[in-house]
Amino acid sequence: MNKGIFITIEGGEGAGKTTLIEQLAHTMQQRGKTVITTREPGGIPIAEQIRSVILDCNHTGMDARTEALLYAASRRQHLVEKVVPALADGQIVICDRFVDSSLAYQGHARGLGMEEVWSINRFAVDGAMPQLTIYMDIDPEVGLARIRAAGEREVNRLDLESLAFHQLVREGYRKLLEQFPERIVKVDAGKAANAVLEEVILTIDRRFKGFFAADVQ
Ligand code: TYD
Repeated sequence: MNKGIFITIEGGEGAGKTTLIEQLAHTMQQRGKTVITTREPGGIPIAEQIRSVILDCNHTGMDARTEALLYAASRRQHLVEKVVPALADGQIVICDRFVDSSLAYQGHARGLGMEEVWSINRFAVDGAMPQLTIYMDIDPEVGLARIRAAGEREVNRLDLESLAFHQLVREGYRKLLEQFPERIVKVDAGKAANAVLEEVILTIDRRFKGFFAADVQ
């Protein structure tokens, strides 16, 4: 699977992942790169169906382990059906969320334990890990206010969690940054979108040795 480049974007609610991914993919395409963008949970029909079960606001009785297993199941299908073939084809895959979301949300914030959640995700991803993860760090109060103000997407079951839950999510991501300093790079998502984009472009260029410079005419 190593011909392409697998990049994941992580962060709490309202961090601006969607905007960053769109702009980043556009910049890459302008430089002649073949890039696909996708998201978790979802990205393909089977995983989108699992997504609608997980995020349904009526499913208030969902058990935390059930939730973690559903995310892992959706991840597995998305990986084998979409991500791995694209990487084998030499494409760049930018994915909105991946295992780190499960570790931060289900492992830390829900209290299932990061190691326990890792164990089901090790089974799900079977070694297919991103070469680079951008973590967009945002104060949850600011992020949730952004979502409410923009009204750009529907409120889902996870958005309805308390502020304390989202603060735990952030704490979980911070633990992951300490655990995987080689793979995860933190970006201050409180900055303007174009400043975030610039920083991420520099990070990718450094990590993949002149990635952006190479194709400039
Ligand atoms: P989404 O609408 O995609 O939110 P966002 O724009 O913030 O990514 O909803 C995905 C929700 O699922 C989000 O609240 C994070 C949560 N999530 C987990 O709890 N665990 C996971 O493994 C993944 C992939 C997402």
